[in-house]
Amino acid sequence: MASLQSTPAWKALKAHHEKSAGQHMRDLFAADETRFKTFSLNRGGLFLDYSKNRVTTQTMSLLIDLAKARDVEGWRRCMLAGEPINTTEDRAALHVALRNPLDHAPMKAMGKDVMPEVRALRKKMRDVAEVIRSGAWTGATGKAIDAVVHIGTGGSHLGPEMVTQALAPIRPSEAGGPALHFISNVDGVQIATALDGLSPDTTLFIVASKTFTTEETITNARTAKAWLVDALGADAVAKHFIAVSGNAEAVSEFGIMPDNTFDLWDWVGGRYSVWSAIGLPIALALGMDVFEEFLAGGHDMDRHFQDAPLDANMPVILGLIGVWSINFLGSRSLAILPYDEGLRGLPNYLRQLEMESNGKALDSKGHPVDVDTAPVIFGDPGTRGQHSFFQALHQGGQLIACDFIAPLESRHTTGTHHDRLLASFLAQTEALMEGRTELEAFAAMADQGIPSEEMKGQLPHRIFEGNRPTNSIVADRFDAFTLGQLIALYEHKVFVQAVIWGVNPFDQWGVEWGKELAAQIFTEISDAPGDIVAQEHCSSTLGLIARLKAHKAKTP
Ligand code: F6P
Repeated sequence: MASLQSTPAWKALKAHHEKSAGQHMRDLFAADETRFKTFSLNRGGLFLDYSKNRVTTQTMSLLIDLAKARDVEGWRRCMLAGEPINTTEDRAALHVALRNPLDHAPMKAMGKDVMPEVRALRKKMRDVAEVIRSGAWTGATGKAIDAVVHIGTGGSHLGPEMVTQALAPIRPSEAGGPALHFISNVDGVQIATALDGLSPDTTLFIVASKTFTTEETITNARTAKAWLVDALGADAVAKHFIAVSGNAEAVSEFGIMPDNTFDLWDWVGGRYSVWSAIGLPIALALGMDVFEEFLAGGHDMDRHFQDAPLDANMPVILGLIGVWSINFLGSRSLAILPYDEGLRGLPNYLRQLEMESNGKALDSKGHPVDVDTAPVIFGDPGTRGQHSFFQALHQGGQLIACDFIAPLESRHTTGTHHDRLLASFLAQTEALMEGRTELEAFAAMADQGIPSEEMKGQLPHRIFEGNRPTNSIVADRFDAFTLGQLIALYEHKVFVQAVIWGVNPFDQWGVEWGKELAAQIFTEISDAPGDIVAQEHCSSTLGLIARLKAHKAKTP
């Protein structure tokens, strides 16, 4: 594949960037009253304002040229046709099929219609959710289930936790389902703490692992099984364990019944799997209707992604704005800032989505990509983040692009909280864009009556350069539908960027080597203290292993 930087579309953007480098957004706003209208898009209640980016209509048109030159439309067609676009694993990436309406026309992954199995999955999820929520699913001692422990990690954990947090009613009793606990860390403290408050006869475990070989998940699942069997005997596993996995053999070896197993197909990537039975906790906690609404929102964004022209296509625009910020403005990080406490899991969720998908320096053919790819994603809900890292966003030496995400309506109505929350969101985006000149800073200090000798020392620190790019994504409210739209928006945005950079967003080879090495080191450190280390390591790892073994020898 030709180097990206040598393509005419990239060169045109580079020349444009050099010409427009001195431009300040406050001047762009001053010069054009229609800027907000020009640089915003709405799709069924989800609204994207990208006017506070360092772009002009010419920038956008050159970015669209880039999307065309990289054949975003062709790749989108291939993805939706279920072609094996995950080339290193020879698989389709057809997670969109999971959110199709049930009467949808056939959709093929590698030539095979997947809709019959999607329909069967949805029915099974509904049936299981109903029996558990109604109390008809009873455990080994005949009692109804009141707690569900979901064991999984990465894509088999982040989605269901994030969505259930986002949609949970303010009063948990109103949800009507079992209490949910998520176990994702192999640090035994997490599972021990969760199990401590639970009763084996009313607890159900979901072991969610596409491969069913992920060490952390299987270790936690074994601990859970031992806890259950210890209290209720081996037969109890049949009534207290559900699996979601693509590895039926390993599930059966573990002892989970086929009836209690939900399939996960190889055309669904882990970080794109919240729409599958990996999302079962959402249906258990909030009801299958809520889960179906979430799917409908995702499907709505799929339709938009598929049908809208590139220059009015929200995922395309969000992806291109990201490329502009990362590759031309030099923003290597992206802050995800939901002004909604329910969306506190979103930064972590999107971190995996973006960084595991596009954190690659080789293109899909194995050649180096000659530009930066996935940004470092971090974030926290507003207003907590403001009191933690916003200093660096406003005045730090690095440029950090931000996505602000806010609901116009709150799920609670206490006092002035929501207006204050939204005022903070609006103020931050404006401050980041406008900045504050020396004159303005001076006038503000004079207004505050700050003595002139203090003013001198403080003045440079009160100047804000501004011109810092932000997107604002707002919805009337983040309900199941708009949340589905939002997650699908980011999935397609990541896809668009992958196409631009030429990387395969659906594999994750980078995680594998660390996993293999951890398995080897585990056998070494769990040997009797004093044993010879079998694997060759550097002196740092050897030194740390020796220290660990010496410590083990001392501790009972
Ligand atoms: O370690 C990376 C990863 O493979 C992710 O891609 C995946 O979401 C996670 O581990 C969990 O994998 P599994 O569902 O197979 O347990």
